[in-house]
Amino acid sequence: MNKPKRPASPSGRYTITTALPYTNGPIHIGHLAGVYVPADIYARYLRLTGHDVAFIGGSDEHGVPITIKAKKEGVSPQDIVDKYHAIIKKSFEDFGITYDNYSRTSAPIHHKTASEFFKTLYDKGEFIEETTEQLYDEQANQFLADRFVIGTCPKCGNEESYGDQCENCGTSHNATDLINPKSALTGNTPTLKQTKHWFLPLDKHEDFLKEWILEGHKKDWKPNVYGQVKSWIDDGLRPRAVTRDLDWGIPVPVEGGEGKVLYVWFDAPIGYISSTIEWAEREGKNWEPYWKDEETKLVHFIGKDNIVFHCIIFPAMLKAEGSYILPDNVPANEFLNLEGNKLSTSKNWAVWLPEYLEEFPGQQDVLRYALNANAPETKDNDFTWKDFQARNNNELVAIFGNFINRVVVLTNKYYNGIVPEPSEFSQVDEETLAAVKAYPNVIASSIERYRFREAGQELMNLARLGNKYLADEEPWKVIKVDEARTQTIMYVALQIASALATLCEPFLPFTSEKLKNILNVSSSDVTQAHSIENTWNDISTKEVLLPAGHQIGKAELLFSKIEDETIQKQLDKLEASKKANEAANKTVEPQKETITFEDFTKLDIRVGTILEAEKMPKTKKLLKLKVDTGIDVRTIVSGIAESFTAEEVVGKRVTVLVNLAPRALRGVESQGMILMTETPEGKLVFVNPDSGNEVANGLPIS
Ligand code: MF3
Ligand code: ZN
Repeated sequence: MNKPKRPASPSGRYTITTALPYTNGPIHIGHLAGVYVPADIYARYLRLTGHDVAFIGGSDEHGVPITIKAKKEGVSPQDIVDKYHAIIKKSFEDFGITYDNYSRTSAPIHHKTASEFFKTLYDKGEFIEETTEQLYDEQANQFLADRFVIGTCPKCGNEESYGDQCENCGTSHNATDLINPKSALTGNTPTLKQTKHWFLPLDKHEDFLKEWILEGHKKDWKPNVYGQVKSWIDDGLRPRAVTRDLDWGIPVPVEGGEGKVLYVWFDAPIGYISSTIEWAEREGKNWEPYWKDEETKLVHFIGKDNIVFHCIIFPAMLKAEGSYILPDNVPANEFLNLEGNKLSTSKNWAVWLPEYLEEFPGQQDVLRYALNANAPETKDNDFTWKDFQARNNNELVAIFGNFINRVVVLTNKYYNGIVPEPSEFSQVDEETLAAVKAYPNVIASSIERYRFREAGQELMNLARLGNKYLADEEPWKVIKVDEARTQTIMYVALQIASALATLCEPFLPFTSEKLKNILNVSSSDVTQAHSIENTWNDISTKEVLLPAGHQIGKAELLFSKIEDETIQKQLDKLEASKKANEAANKTVEPQKETITFEDFTKLDIRVGTILEAEKMPKTKKLLKLKVDTGIDVRTIVSGIAESFTAEEVVGKRVTVLVNLAPRALRGVESQGMILMTETPEGKLVFVNPDSGNEVANGLPIS
């Protein structure tokens, strides 16, 4: 057998980073499929094959998205980041993402690291200092950076591009590049105001970027990544401001920087470094080789909207600093859709990780498997609950689970759970065992080329091989005629089960643990007399994976069937979110012209009681009411008959505009107006003076 091909890291040292999620919401399946599942498969695989791995993550806690979310919820940005950092960190842990360190950019170590990084570049003269005109919102009294501005993308014409990046075409630009910019705070058209900032002259790094990526990584970087980078470089690179006039972020640590902070995309990627330092300090290690040794392989896992930052801006920063290595690869994924629609946090069109963990307890591996099987590696892809169900029922249950269950049940039944002694191997046995030995290489080769879907399918092929072997050899029939042959068949099948226990770990870590327990080979079980947990390479090299005479445990189901009902519940949930959105997006009457306070004080509004009510003859809408206003009892004609009967309004306390000029309606003089309004769903309600639980804003009708 060939030795497994080693990944191209001469030192065997890997620094693996995952995009730091903004702490303005929980993690959803789009994040998982694009970034965290593939990265965790990669990290686990590398550890299993004996590499030195720093798997680094953390929360991205600065930037405008956080401030906007805080404003919306009426709390401080710190409250927002504390809340979501805790939620995100916990859900990653529960989902089995094996970070060596998960930090946050509000951590002191990060503020220090990012500040020093900025100062180093500043001292080296790597920035251009320039006073330019930036967009300013006169009403909000604030400069408008990044997501505070929305306008038309100069490249693709998308009318809802953000100031720093267009989500439609992925282009990253300066806020002043937007056509027809509008403030996201007030909707006003911004003015221009002078302010000083520091710019990273990307144009200065163009030659290096061309040589490093366009020439150096043409073959090994994914075509989608390479293509995007090339298009930016071909468009010509320009200086980018790396500071902002904001009050949430890391203060600019140089003279003249008062009141300004580092651009979030300047500080966040440095978060990878700070998180590594935090880890090394805790573990008593030296962090520097992980970032400065040319023999370390640095790999950034990200989604496609992050490509420019990881392939152009951050490398330019690292290069300018001078002592860091550059990424060996940036295997960015495309986007995952959900049931045919773009995932959206604001529209609640998502499957949220914390909810999944709650609703599918113990089924992390099902989601990991389904997301990997359908990962948007080369193009955008769609997640459907039907596919999720099929992946579980037809693959995990019917193939993997079924094979393991048969092996374990039969071993217990025939041999009291003791691995039997094989006799002579048939040709099929030899071929099967040889095929098993090839799998570590096959799967490894896919993983090393960042083809995680392919790798996951190869793993399932190994389970298929086991299933087919049992189906062909039929030990349940052979046992009646040939004891010795049955022992050999079961022995071979147990070797396959053992190989699966090891090789499935990167993809199905919870299952791997369970299976190792069933096979009684888990090294985490200290009572186990002869620990025989295999490494990845053992599967190719060892003659015996699970020795005759070894006692295995009892059968236990690895996966269970997911019923239509369960899937329907999830689909209903999505349907409900769609409905809620449609209601929210229903066109509402635009606000009327502004009135002055003097206008308002002209209204004489009193609390009254309806004493009598009768439907006006020959009208659909009108009720004739007698109302006690406290001043007098008067007649008011009100257009509410389609929503309320005469009987139900009698005795009701209502809000009355008493000084409205009287007006004749169908021959009856109406002397005032009952104030009514509409709920967002369009239901007519009284502006109720008592309960306060009904909507009470505007739109009086009579
Ligand atoms: N928070 C960013 C996003 O969600 C990703 C930041 S990645 C890092 O798009 F490099 F800045 F850390
Ligand atoms: Zn665009």
